Parts: sequence; structure tokens; C-alpha cells
Amino acid sequence: MRFKYTISIVFFVALVIIEKENNIISRVSDKLSLKQTPQTPLQSSGFSHILLKHNGSFPSLNKMKRRLENYSEHQEVTIKGKKHILLFATTRTGSSFVGEFFNQQGENMFYLFEPLWHVEKMLTLETGGTNATAAAKAYRDVLRQLFLCDFSLMESFIEPRPVDHVTPALFRRESSSSLCEESVCSPVVKGVFERHRCRTRRCGPLNLTMASESCLQKEHRAIKSVRVHQLENLRPLAEDPRLDIRFIQLVRDPRAVLASRMVAFAAKYKNWKDWAMGGNQPIDNDEVRKLKGNCDNIRFSAEVGLRQPPWLRGRYMLVRYEDIARFPMKKAAEMYRFTGIPFTPQVKSWILKNTQASKEASGVYSTQKNSSEQVEKWRFRLPFKIAQVVQRVCGPTLKLFGYKLVTSEQMLTDKSVSLIEDKVFNF
Ligand SMILES: *[C@@H]1O[C@H](CO)[C@@H](O)[C@H](O)[C@H]1NC(C)=O
Ligand SMILES: *[C@@H]1O[C@H](CO)[C@@H](O)[C@H](O)[C@H]1NC(C)=O
Ligand SMILES: *[C@@H]1O[C@H](CO)[C@@H](O)[C@H](O)[C@H]1NC(C)=O
Ligand SMILES: *[C@@H]1O[C@H](CO)[C@@H](O)[C@H](O)[C@H]1NC(C)=O
Ligand SMILES: *[C@@H]1O[C@H](CO)[C@@H](O)[C@H](O)[C@H]1NC(C)=O
Repeated sequence: MRFKYTISIVFFVALVIIEKENNIISRVSDKLSLKQTPQTPLQSSGFSHILLKHNGSFPSLNKMKRRLENYSEHQEVTIKGKKHILLFATTRTGSSFVGEFFNQQGENMFYLFEPLWHVEKMLTLETGGTNATAAAKAYRDVLRQLFLCDFSLMESFIEPRPVDHVTPALFRRESSSSLCEESVCSPVVKGVFERHRCRTRRCGPLNLTMASESCLQKEHRAIKSVRVHQLENLRPLAEDPRLDIRFIQLVRDPRAVLASRMVAFAAKYKNWKDWAMGGNQPIDNDEVRKLKGNCDNIRFSAEVGLRQPPWLRGRYMLVRYEDIARFPMKKAAEMYRFTGIPFTPQVKSWILKNTQASKEASGVYSTQKNSSEQVEKWRFRLPFKIAQVVQRVCGPTLKLFGYKLVTSEQMLTDKSVSLIEDKVFNF
């Protein structure tokens, strides 16, 4: 509370200084109401120090107030420099690996790994599914708050409920280097078991107040999620003047994704697996419908993104896993250019280190792989009959992303035939 209050005062003082410079101080009094505008989003966003640094001509307060009220003119209000990146994908598309490109950026980045896991878990119905409408809204609202460094809504989805904003149960905490920094590391508490504890240093349960304070200090914020199903649902984030968001959609050949899921999620994909192993029971309609639903969702998002409606202009990038695996450095540089964030030496050296052959044992979520080799492996694991099913229901998706259809078992396993067409998606 005191923090917010201080920010408001600092912000107000900053505006007065700017106004003075613009020689229109006399009109300040009728603009004081800005502070009371309920939509004024500045208090909680860590905006103020950037305003203070601004020494050029600043739009007059009246103009600014109008802009704040008109969310679609966000670019005018957003302060240059601070970026919000959403890396979204589906499972088994290499999103942990690509997320590391941002996790490794350095001390200017606040990175969160799958924060929506908690939301999805809590909203899962007894049938095993979720209410898509309710989930989409919750995902959007939680993402918005997290980009603003506010963990309060997120807290309501963590189980058990955090006590005094402290939780030992944050999913994959250790995958966000931001959550294991010294400034977010509270003393170890004896007797509290933490499954996802930091590996880089010994820390106690996560204090979300500390996480929020650390987040506010950072220049940029990135979130990776496999739980965003429709880009269109996130339009309010693109139009929110407090955010300068960039959406990076990561896609992968759906045939490879299915092959990978059959290994990683063996129980969930048991029917596919049985069929692959020679079972006579063909895959049932329910499974095929689910597969189609996944493919369609990915394609709908990409179609919206590639169409570049005004609200998305300059904010959307499509990246194929296969291109990243084959040209990691080049693609990472492109992604950084797109986001407008410095491509730091830390990221480069991480990529160098982690795209070379590694003999170390790797878990299912491991990001350390010889990426070029991984790209084509699925072709020897997925029976042709399953590839055919995927091609039948995901045809338009394969086509959009430039994945070639196979017409025979022989073509599937012929490594001299590449199934990846060269394709440029960004303009
Ligand atoms: C402030 O003005 C100086 C001199 O015009 C310039 O060098 C500097 O980059 C400006 N700083 C900002 C934050 O705009
Ligand atoms: C908000 O912006 C849109 C698009 O730029 C414009 O059409 C609309 O008139 C603006 N609304 C207000 C209240 O300024
Ligand atoms: C899903 O959630 C929305 C919003 O909470 C609600 O209006 C709707 O009735 C729910 N639908 C189902 C099928 O439960
Ligand atoms: C969490 O961190 C905040 C800010 O450093 C501190 O004020 C608070 O006491 C901490 N909470 C607990 C339960 O330690
Ligand atoms: C990765 O594996 C491929 C195929 O086995 C090999 O040709 C390549 O040299 C490896 N890459 C690195 C960087 O070791």
C-alpha cells in the first residue's frame, strides 16, 4: 500500500516537472483529476521511473489522459523499452528450450515458466476437461496481472493457498531463474518440503511479495505457456496501454508432436500407443476429435497472427520448432530483433552450450539435446498409419506451416526427403 502511494507521488511529481518544461504548468490544476481516474493504470506498473527519465517533449496531460482512456491508442502511451513477451505453444513443441532463450537473457528479464499450470489445475473439472470459456478468461486475467508483476490473482489458484503470500508449491519455480535470484530467495525453513526448489542456491518457500518487487525492478518480462489456446482471447492484453506485448507462437509438425506425446504422456496417449504397437483396435473418434481440435486451435491462432489485424500489428511472430532446432542462433537473433530486447552474450553462450551433442542423460523435459538430430527422429517412431491419421485431420495446419505430407511408409522414413519446406512467415 505504502509502495503504491509512493509511486503515485513520484509519478505526480514527474508529471509536474514535465509540464513545467513544456511551459504549461498553469493548466496543471485542472488536470489533477488524472490521478483519480479509475482506469489510470500507472500505479501498479512500475512505470514512473521511466517517466522520470524522459526529458524530451512529453504530450500534455490532457492528451495523455485521453490516451489512457482509449486503450486502442496504446502505442502512444507505452513507454519505449519495457517489453512483455508471451511465448505460447502446445506441449512437446520445444517450448521449454525456446523459453530458455528468454530465461537466460540476464538481469533485465523477469521470466516465468508455465504460471498458468496452477490455473488449469484448479479449473479442471471432474470430467478431466476444463470449461474453455471460463479458463480462457482466467488465463487472460492472470497473464495480464503477471505482466504487471501482480501475483494476487495467481495466488488464488495455487494449492494449498499461499499463507501471507508465501508458498512452497509454485510449479517449476526452479525453471525461472528470476524466482531463484538472491533477491527472491528467503531463508530455508526446516521441515517444509519443496518439490520445485531452486537448484542454483538454497532458498526457502517462495515469497510472492519478494517476487513481485523483483519483477517491478526488471526492464522486461517474459512468460512461456502451453495453455493459451486462442490468440484472439488475448486481444485485451495487446490493447492494454500498460503493456507493450509481443506474442511469439511456437509450432511444430503435429506428427512429431504426437510421436513425442506418446512417449512423454504414455498414460494419456495409451490408445494411440496400443494402436502403434500393432493393436487392431483403431483409434476412436474421441481421440481423433481431440487431435483435430488441437490442430485447429493452433492454426486459428496462427491465421489471426499472420493476418496482422490492427491490434496485432508488429506484435506477432510465428516460429517453427524445426527452424529453431536447425538454426538456433539465427532464429534466436530473429526473435530478439522482433522483441526489441538486446540479444545478450549470456543467451548466445547458453545456445552454444545447449545445442551441441550431449551425452548426459536427459529427462522428458530436458532442454539439453542435439537439436538437429532430434528434428527428424519421430519419422522412425511413428507408424505410417498414424501419420496418415494426423495428415487427414490436421491437413490445413500442416499446409499452413509448410510441413510436407508423406504418401508412403517409404517416404516417411527416407531421410533424404525433407518434410520441412522453407517458409518465411514474417514480413
Ligand atoms: C536526455 O537529453 C540528453 C541531451 O539532449 C540526451 O543525450 C539523453 O539521451 C536524453 N535522455 C533520455 C532518457 O531521453
Ligand atoms: C479511440 O481510438 C479509436 C481508434 O484510434 C478512435 O476511433 C476512437 O474515436 C477513440 N476514442 C476516443 C474516446 O478517443
Ligand atoms: C463455463 O463458464 C462460463 C463462465 O463462467 C459459464 O457461463 C458457462 O455456463 C460454463 N459452461 C459450462 C458448460 O459449464
Ligand atoms: C515476504 O517479503 C516481504 C517483502 O520483503 C516481507 O515484508 C514479508 O514479511 C515476507 N513475508 C514473510 C511471511 O516472510
Ligand atoms: C548432432 O547430431 C548430428 C547427427 O548425429 C551430427 O551430425 C552433428 O554433428 C551433431 N551436432 C553437434 C553440434 O554435435
